[in-house]
Amino acid sequence: MTMNAIEVRDLTRRFGGFVAVDRVTFEVREGEIFGFLGSNGAGKSTTIRMLCGLLKPTSGTARVGGVDVGRDPEAVKQRIGYMSQKFSLYEALTIDQNIEFFSGLYGLDRRTGRDRRAFVLKMAGLEGREHTLAGDLPGGWRQRLALGCAILHQPPVLFLDEPTGGVDPLSRREFWTLIEAMAASGVTVLVTTHYLDEAEHCHRLAILHAGRLAAIGSITELREVFADRPIVEVQSTDPVALMNALADHPDVEKTSVFGTAVHAVLKRETDVRRFIAGLGDGLTASPVAPSLEDVFLDVVEQAQSPEPKA
Ligand SMILES: Nc1ncnc2c1ncn2[C@@H]1O[C@H](COP(=O)(O)OP(=O)(O)OP(=O)(O)O)[C@@H](O)[C@H]1O
Ligand SMILES: [Mg+2]
Repeated sequence: MTMNAIEVRDLTRRFGGFVAVDRVTFEVREGEIFGFLGSNGAGKSTTIRMLCGLLKPTSGTARVGGVDVGRDPEAVKQRIGYMSQKFSLYEALTIDQNIEFFSGLYGLDRRTGRDRRAFVLKMAGLEGREHTLAGDLPGGWRQRLALGCAILHQPPVLFLDEPTGGVDPLSRREFWTLIEAMAASGVTVLVTTHYLDEAEHCHRLAILHAGRLAAIGSITELREVFADRPIVEVQSTDPVALMNALADHPDVEKTSVFGTAVHAVLKRETDVRRFIAGLGDGLTASPVAPSLEDVFLDVVEQAQSPEPKA
């Protein structure tokens, strides 16, 4: 039977009169990679800090690894690994000293500490660099070391808050290979990112907007927001002009530019073939599946719209 590693019910956090996290409810299964998407200020880090036992919820409950984070934040800290958005390593310490520091923090005995050090150096590809200052490492290496330090105590649940911010595409890919290997071994991972290509690695995603959960599900499930609104991709040498022209088309709900193409979201029940035929000969157009970016923009737009949702 699959168990939930994380269970969140109506979790809320206020700062004075401001509601940073607003009645958020979701669960994450053991071994799942669960992604958090959302604009700046959506409440991702605040939610994670509550789940890590670092910030007290104003109301609602959360269980992580079976522990109620509001009641027993200290017990939660032992069951999780956490890579924070801003700080995760001592840059003035060497790789070895960072590992030693975190081993001490997690209370590992000497022998376990030695074994785990070897494991982390190998996993992060840092063997032979033990005496390099963390601050001198290229971004991708530093993030792998930070990940290694966050899992020294072999936590069953891992929280990664923008672990790949500012890291090059190749290093990001390597980082995700590590995450996927860990999830395959049963570790539950909750990760935030602003890179939508990374979201493809997540088994399920939550989109947060202004403190609220705006959508949740697998990518396939999230694409359902476009179930009865076809998207047509139209190529153009001048996509901005085309976008403006299409925006006035009676069948078009909205448009957005993707490189040299425009995505036109058609109104409900529009006949796609008729729409494409009506565009004229000069344009190359074809129906496309919604990209995650289409989905993200649409979900955020709907969450912003003033009409109350059913
Ligand atoms: N300690 C605090 N006091 C007051 N407001 C706070 C505090 N911490 C966070 N906030 C506010 O709560 C909101 C949510 O912040 P949070 O850091 O959770 O967003 P985020 O989704 O992680 O954004 P980003 O993508 O920029 O990291 C923001 O408006 C932020 O300014
Ligand atoms: Mg954040």
